[in-house]
Amino acid sequence: MTASAAEFPLIRTEIAGVPVIELARRFGTPTFVYDARRIVERVRDLAAFDVVRYAQKACSNLAVLDLLRRQGALVDAVSAGEIARALAAGFRPGGDPPPIVYTADIFDRESLSLVLAHGIHVNCGSPEMIEQLGREAPGSDVTLRINPGFGHGHSQKTNTGGEQSKHGIWHEDLLEALRLADRHNLRVTGLHLHIGSGSDLEHLAQVCHAMERLAREVGRTLTTISAGGGLPTPYRPGETRVDVAAYYRLWNETRRRLEEHFGHKLRLEIEPGRYLVAESGYLITEIRAVKRMGRNLFYLVDAGFNNLARPILYGAYHHMSLVPQGLDGPEGPQSRPLQRVVVGGPLCESGDIFTQTEGGFVAQRELPAAAVGELLVIEGAGAYGFTMSSNYNAKPLAAEVLLLEGRAHLVRRRQLLEELMLGESIPSV
Ligand code: LLP
Repeated sequence: MTASAAEFPLIRTEIAGVPVIELARRFGTPTFVYDARRIVERVRDLAAFDVVRYAQKACSNLAVLDLLRRQGALVDAVSAGEIARALAAGFRPGGDPPPIVYTADIFDRESLSLVLAHGIHVNCGSPEMIEQLGREAPGSDVTLRINPGFGHGHSQKTNTGGEQSKHGIWHEDLLEALRLADRHNLRVTGLHLHIGSGSDLEHLAQVCHAMERLAREVGRTLTTISAGGGLPTPYRPGETRVDVAAYYRLWNETRRRLEEHFGHKLRLEIEPGRYLVAESGYLITEIRAVKRMGRNLFYLVDAGFNNLARPILYGAYHHMSLVPQGLDGPEGPQSRPLQRVVVGGPLCESGDIFTQTEGGFVAQRELPAAAVGELLVIEGAGAYGFTMSSNYNAKPLAAEVLLLEGRAHLVRRRQLLEELMLGESIPSV
């Protein structure tokens, strides 16, 4: 597949053919809407890989997991909760390739007991994991996640390689890790490298060389190599989709050379999160105030960093579009003047700004003139949107809606105020 430009309209009336106004009326705001068609398209882009293992941390709603499962994707889990979600969405725990892989740098006690109870394949990111699994389940097959000594991500906070990163087994310790696995009678069948999230092709390509070198160190027990995730996705006008075919070619060549070396077949896995779901997601918000503060005009919407934390965490850019409410003249909404605005949320914290750059600097964005009560859609919000949301300021979690073949399905209802206090109690003294 060749790289293609994504679409970034400033005025939006529908998502996958469903009017946004209708979605807001039916489900309220803020609401995450996922367009299933986009997810299916993205998973098909990656069909050349033997296994597409979805990194569910990007968006772990059961309906999204189920959709991806039905498209043939397998799943990654990084916690007991993600294992529980994978099981609830119908992924079986055992099999070859393993439908669920637990990837982490530690076992907390709950995840270790779930892994053992269900015989879930483990990708070990520390020598301690090898030891703890080996003690409880000798004879298992394992994957090792290696930190190759370099990394790259869209932000320093999403760079998972190099010595500043806590992730993986340090590349110089691979032989030691292999000896540890041997001592516990664990067979190293998989090798996994993931250098960061939202990286680029140039950096990702370097991983192939590291894989080749490290895989030779592991030797003939290997049956699977994993390229990890990290594929970028277009977030703003001008950004194109990554050349997946070129990426596959690089990995396939690496795989072929290793196959020749080992004299047996190797399975090639990829483990994307963002690439599969980011573009499918839209956060529908309502503009509740339009106010001027000196040189800045603010659109204040009813979603905040409790719903989408990427801008405050990474200075991440999300495209936004306005949904006109029919207040326009005969030329229609396209004739609305553009103005430079700052978009913020409802939280009691100055950093609750969607248009900010890394370091917390408020930035202006050109958006159509808007009135209170109109809807603003924050786009590219399918990955690390809902899954990173919180109850800060005692805000309920948003609703999630999946658009499937022109129909809108509520796949998670908005959290109720009573639910915010579930599990709490006041001691009786
Ligand atoms: N595999 C492993 C082992 C990972 O740690 C991650 C992401 C992925 C796969 C998927 O990466 P992706 O394909 O989505 O780039 N919250 C940040 C991203 C943190 C990603 C952490 N690990 C963000 O919103 O950009």
